[in-house]
Formats: sequence, C-alpha cells, structure tokens
Amino acid sequence: MCGIFGYVGHRSAAPILLQGLRTLEYRGYDSAGLFIPQSGVIKAAGPIDNLAAKVPEAFPGTSGIAHTRWATHGRPTEQNAHPHADMSETLWIVHNGIIENYRELKDGLVAQGMTFTSETDTEVVAKLIGNFYRGNLREAVVMALRAVRGTYGILAVHEHHPMELVAARLGSPLVIGLGVDGNFISSDPSALLAYTKDVVYLHDGEVAVVTADTYSVTSLAGAKQTKVAERIEWSPEEVQKGGYPHFMLKEIFEAPEVIENALRGRLLREKGRAKLGGFESLEQQLREITSLQMVGCGSAYYAGLVGQHLLTEYADLPVNTELGSEYRYKKNLASKKTAFFCVSQSGETADTRASLQKAKESGLLTLGMVNVVGSAIAREIDAGVYNHAGPEVAVASTKAFVSQLTVMALVTLFFGRARTMTQTEGIALAEALAALPQVVREMLRDSEKIASIAKKYAHYENFMYLGRTSHVPIAYEGALKLKEVTYIHAEAYAGGELKHGSIALLDDQFPVFALAPQNDVYEKMVSNIEEVKARNAPVIALATTGDLRIASVVDDVIYVPAVHPALQPIVSTVPLQLFAYYIGVARGLNVDRPRNLAKSVTVE
Ligand code: AGP
Repeated sequence: MCGIFGYVGHRSAAPILLQGLRTLEYRGYDSAGLFIPQSGVIKAAGPIDNLAAKVPEAFPGTSGIAHTRWATHGRPTEQNAHPHADMSETLWIVHNGIIENYRELKDGLVAQGMTFTSETDTEVVAKLIGNFYRGNLREAVVMALRAVRGTYGILAVHEHHPMELVAARLGSPLVIGLGVDGNFISSDPSALLAYTKDVVYLHDGEVAVVTADTYSVTSLAGAKQTKVAERIEWSPEEVQKGGYPHFMLKEIFEAPEVIENALRGRLLREKGRAKLGGFESLEQQLREITSLQMVGCGSAYYAGLVGQHLLTEYADLPVNTELGSEYRYKKNLASKKTAFFCVSQSGETADTRASLQKAKESGLLTLGMVNVVGSAIAREIDAGVYNHAGPEVAVASTKAFVSQLTVMALVTLFFGRARTMTQTEGIALAEALAALPQVVREMLRDSEKIASIAKKYAHYENFMYLGRTSHVPIAYEGALKLKEVTYIHAEAYAGGELKHGSIALLDDQFPVFALAPQNDVYEKMVSNIEEVKARNAPVIALATTGDLRIASVVDDVIYVPAVHPALQPIVSTVPLQLFAYYIGVARGLNVDRPRNLAKSVTVE
C-alpha cells in the first residue's frame, strides 16, 4: 500500500505535492519521490522529510506527480523509489499495487534492448507505456495496461504534455480532487481535503485524463464514463482510517484483503502446492533439512507456535519454537540439517535480529517471514517470504498476525508437499486457503455481536484464555491483545494445564475465554469449561457455528465457521482481536497507541 499524489493547475506544484505526500505517509514511508515536467525528478530513501530536504526552493512547474512507497518488489532504496521513467526519460509514472506478470513483461522489453535501473515491477510498466507512446499519453497507458496482470493505481505524465495527467485504476484506490485553481489525484481523499471537498472516485477499469480545469473518465475499452462529484465531510484523519474510528479496527477489517495479498500468485490449486518465490532458489537445500528452529517475539512468537503445530501435523517436520530474547542467549545444539526460521512484522526487532545473527554464526540456513520489505531481517536472512500485509499503523498487531498465520499455512503446504503430504491433502488445504478470504469477510459481519459481548465484560480486571493444541498459541495471542489495548490482567493456558495450579485464580470476578472449536480435543475443552464454571467463573466460549450444546454450559458464545483444521486458528483469531478492541474502546483507551508500547522493539 503506497500513496500516490498528482497536481495540475496554476500554482507551484512542488509544495503541494510534498504536502500531499505527508498526509499519505501512513500508507508507506520507506522512500519517496516526485516529478515536475518543467524541473525534473527527485527521489529519496526514507521518510518524506528526506525528500523535502532535497527539493530546491526554486523548483518551477505547476503540475507533477509524487509517491510515498511501501516496498513490495525491490528494496526501499532511492533507485527503487518512484517515479519511474520510460527509456527516453520523458514519460514518468507512479504506481500503487502489485504487477504479477512483471517478470515476463520485463523479459520481452529486455529482448527489445531496453535497460532497467531499478528492481521494481513499476519500472516495467513505465517502459511498456513508453513502448506504446506515439504522442497520445492516454492511449499509450491503455495499451500497456491491457498487457498487465495485477493491481494498480497509476499516474502518468509526459514532459511534452505537462498540463495533462493520466490516471488508471484496477484494485488500488484513486480519487480526483476538483480544486479552484487546479485539479488533484490521490490514493485517498485525506490528502485532498486541504484543497477541496469535491471529489470523483475512479472505479476499477477506469482511466482518467486530468487537466488544470477539466477531467474526463473512460473505461479501459474507451467508453466514456459519466462521473458525479461527491462532497467529503470527513477530517483527513478520519479518511486515513477509512471511516473506521481507529486504525486497529480498520486493520482487523482488512483481514480478507490481507489474506488475499498473502496468497496472491502463491497458490497452485490444481497441484495442491504453494509457490514461494523466495524459497525457489534454495529448493534442493530445503528438501534436505530435517528440522526447523522457529524464533519470534510477542505476537510473532505466537505465530511461530502456530507454524510449529501446522508443520508438525501436516508436513511431519520437527519444529522447535523459541522466544527471540531467549534463543539468542542459549547454546545452539542444532545440526547443520536444521534451518532457522524467524518471524517479524517490522523486520527490525532487536532480539529476533540477534537470534538470526546467532543462527548464522552457528552455520544454519536462515529463513524468515517479514512484512516490511527491505527491513534489516529481510536483508539478513538467506531466503524469505514477505507477508504483503501493508503498513500496520496500530501498535497492537492484528492484520499482520492474520497474515503470518496465512503464510505459515503456505509454508506448511510448501514443505508438506516436498515431504509427506499427498496431492489430495495438498489440494484440500489449497482450496481451503483460496476460500478463506470470503469466510473471514462473512464472519466480520457479526462484529456487532462481539461488540455487545465485549461491553458486558469490559468492567472485569482479570481474564483467562484457554485453548488446546493449535489453539494454545491463539489463547496466548488473545490474552496479549487484551493486555495491550485494555490494560486488563490476562493469563493464557493450555486447557490441560488448568488443574496444575492456575485454576486457583478463578472466581466470579475472573472470567474465562475458552477456545472450543469442534476438533479432536473438543470434549477436553468442554470438561475444562465445566471445571471453571464450577468455580463460578463467567465463561465465554469461542465455538463452531451450530454447536448448540456448548451454549448450554457457558454464559456467552462467539460462533465461528468450521474450516480446514489448519486454518481454524486464523478464523478463531479475528473475534479475539475484535473482543479486545471493543473492551479497550469501552474503557475509553487509546487502542491505537497503548501506553508503554512501541510498534517495533528495536532496543535490546
Ligand atoms: C504485538 O501486538 C506487539 N506489537 C508485539 O508483541 C510484536 O508482535 C513484537 O514486538 C514483535 O514485533 P515484530 O513482529 O515486528 O518483530
């Protein structure tokens, strides 16, 4: 998720483009750039301030395009920052999205003698548009996009037609702002509100030509589209949250798209296999490993524990999961046939990095799953899988955790099919993964039910989460979310551990959240519920839709759909995130910026 912005009008473009990027910085902040036909291109790695520092006072021109990046293809460097140009460097574009067939397109252009200066998929599109350009920018953009597969919000400008911007959208948001002294284009209206409240949303498959005083929209096929301007009443911050009251809730509701992004181009459904580009170069070495050491911190550690369960159960691959802050100080007795696998959203967590260093020093093959492209861990591992979950703004990890569990299922399919998983089993898991985004989308429609249960429990000062097998890490994560955004004391245990001490805590002021989906330990979980009910503890059960029996033994039930057992932890996680969120809001807390926490723990 990047931020793109354009302006064409009668005022100096540079300050307007920089202001637009600052408002869009929450969408991505690892590098940025702008192009003003009259003056040229400027790019910088890092936050917008770095770019602004490079833009000279006098940088004339009343039109231009700009971009703030969230890297997906190619590290966050100045070279990979947008805008990107055609071979003549007179036609420039900025892009938000993922071009799936960029490698094939690039090979075709290289065969025509074209050269590339970046690692990005976007530069391929710029060269392709240049290839079709014969004086009409809109036409060249349309021709190129007909060959492209993937998602895009694209903005293009040509030096010879500085007062004309061409925009196109498929899958990534774009909105035109109708101003008094010029027109604007932005990834979202938040960056327009300083200039206008009158906007025109582009829809998928539409192409717009925007000038200082006019705009026209057609379909990719050329059919004229009649558009109606809408008036935005929201504040910029409200827009950034997409109309949600908090980034945390917005990011919880992004789960279906986040799962789609994690699966995009990686599921070979007919073969029941996972295609993990980052692992392909090491396929032979990966076939020979005999066990994994999984490492992470906080929620990433719990995602590792889910990965351990999945890889053991479905790929017969022994996995040992450790906390980064412990692994780094322990003697490492692993054999050379053991690989190290770390999990990190930010890719900067100090204890996870130090563990990675330790594994390298022990001569282990180092693998990883990271969300932030180009981050330290992403650069330091031998091979990895990106989450493509987009920037996670709220401190409490929600969508990144859902993405981590989804990628863990893909990694399990990858290793499983290389080991003991049959094609039939692989196809079953692949089909279940493909169906998952819609399952979660439907589940999120019940959020109000979870909100009302949460409000009922918002006054308690203690909570216990119980789960078994694949749901033990989910109980840990549920308790962590509650602690992070409500400051309620919360414990989590494997259900079987209850009788060995922690049950002593329970009374009518210590509610229990029992994770009891229908599976082979369901009966055991029901016995746990009866044990805690016997101590008068209020009990909420997370249960499988249609399980009426459990409703008779607990105080409240949150139902989730039954899915492939390997994916049940994902489906069970989202209600726990909502539960914690609604209690945090009911207690009047800043759920996006909880006290005492940082989004990424880069200190030892
Ligand atoms: C989770 O909500 C927290 N933000 C925290 O536990 C986090 O998971 C942990 O610090 C690890 O961060 P990482 O995934 O960026 O390495």
